[in-house]
Amino acid sequence: MQKLIVNGGKRLRGELSLQGSKNSALPVMAATLLCGEECVLTNCPKLSDIYAASRILNCVGCRCSFSGNTAVISSESITESSIPEELMLEMRSSIIFLGAMLGRAGECTVSCPGGCELGPRPIDMHLAALRKMGVNIRESGGKIVCRTAGRIHGAKISLPFPSVGATENIILCAVKAEGETIINNAAREPEICDLCGFLRACGAEISGDGESRIVINGKAKLHGCEYSIMPDRIAGATYLSMTAATRGEIVLKNACVGAMEPFLSVLEQTGCSIFTTEDTIYLRSGSRLKAINDRIRTMPHPGFPTDAQAVLMAALVTAEGTSVFEENIFDCRYRHTDALVKMGADIQVLGKIAVIKGVEKLCGANVEATDLRGGAAMAAAALAAEGRTEISKICHIDRGYEKIEEAVRCLGGDMERV
Ligand code: EPZ
Repeated sequence: MQKLIVNGGKRLRGELSLQGSKNSALPVMAATLLCGEECVLTNCPKLSDIYAASRILNCVGCRCSFSGNTAVISSESITESSIPEELMLEMRSSIIFLGAMLGRAGECTVSCPGGCELGPRPIDMHLAALRKMGVNIRESGGKIVCRTAGRIHGAKISLPFPSVGATENIILCAVKAEGETIINNAAREPEICDLCGFLRACGAEISGDGESRIVINGKAKLHGCEYSIMPDRIAGATYLSMTAATRGEIVLKNACVGAMEPFLSVLEQTGCSIFTTEDTIYLRSGSRLKAINDRIRTMPHPGFPTDAQAVLMAALVTAEGTSVFEENIFDCRYRHTDALVKMGADIQVLGKIAVIKGVEKLCGANVEATDLRGGAAMAAAALAAEGRTEISKICHIDRGYEKIEEAVRCLGGDMERV
């Protein structure tokens, strides 16, 4: 089993080009199923979740190949409409292949996606929306069997909550459906816009993405295209938090500055100097960070992103004063706090609230990554801590960060994979 060994206490300083977005690449990979032609995806991050997605595509009959950060996916012939349970369990976002397979083949059998990492993650909104579009869904023996009689039809769908995955599944199912689909209370995350940008490049007719009401006019046929995946705003938030935690200085290139605004506006309150251009973020944090006065509430975009909660917390544990987080998206997203406490942090968690009293310093410790962003938070804390930290179970971190140790070393940090 691989581990990360971190010798902390060095200020991160340097230039880093941001990886492509995992949460954008995954639905775009699913969407290539709808084209029936070759698609070329550039700026595709090399991550274990991306390889899991390519195994799903291969299993249903597509051909995927990778060369550096370019993925070539051909979906001319689909030979299988069931996705085996072992592939569904590899990652939670396997569920977005359901909408794409329905859009392509009109049928699909899946099982419930992955285990319980951030608390319960039901798919009731996904299934209710698909039913509204004429999909017959039967759940039995752990399998979800979806069939349609004829072409799937458009529908007016109002989501009870702006779920990212449900919005993606509806879009994927609707772009080739008969007629118009309207999604009210749609998720507004930048990755939804990237998915729609890809689909438009394939000939789909979609408007309103980035707003709460998305309108899709179904097209009988789409075509292949070449598309560049957007930069990863959460990896960006992570490297900025690491730099802030170590009182360093970074020039983050290939950044999606607009999409990161909700995070940047909070980070700036710690006293860091932040300057941005269209695609570059400069951050300097010369002295001890200040705690954030206002409660940091995670919310759907354009609110503060839940995926950046853990990494910002890692920077705030050594800030001057008390910061308070309120986690509103997932029930179980403070699992990293035990490891931070083991490193010397003062954190009290009560339900959705976490109170962080800044301490003078952290000390290295042996910790275990609990989930993707929690693991990244441990890496950030380890870089700021005195002494050596060993992080195990880094398979969680590898799901979302492309060679994290190389990125950190390029900023002058001491992180090694063993
Ligand atoms: C996406 O997950 C992201 N994953 C998550 O990133 C991110 O944390 C999340 O959106 C919120 O921004 C990908 O894009 C691959 P949701 P998703 O559906 O789509 C509840 C990371 O670290 N809900 O918006 O699963 C759900 O339980 C990952 O990169 C239902 O109740 O998130 C949760 O409480 C982790 N029923 C809330 O909605 C449903 O049918 C938001 O979930 C669907 C969701």
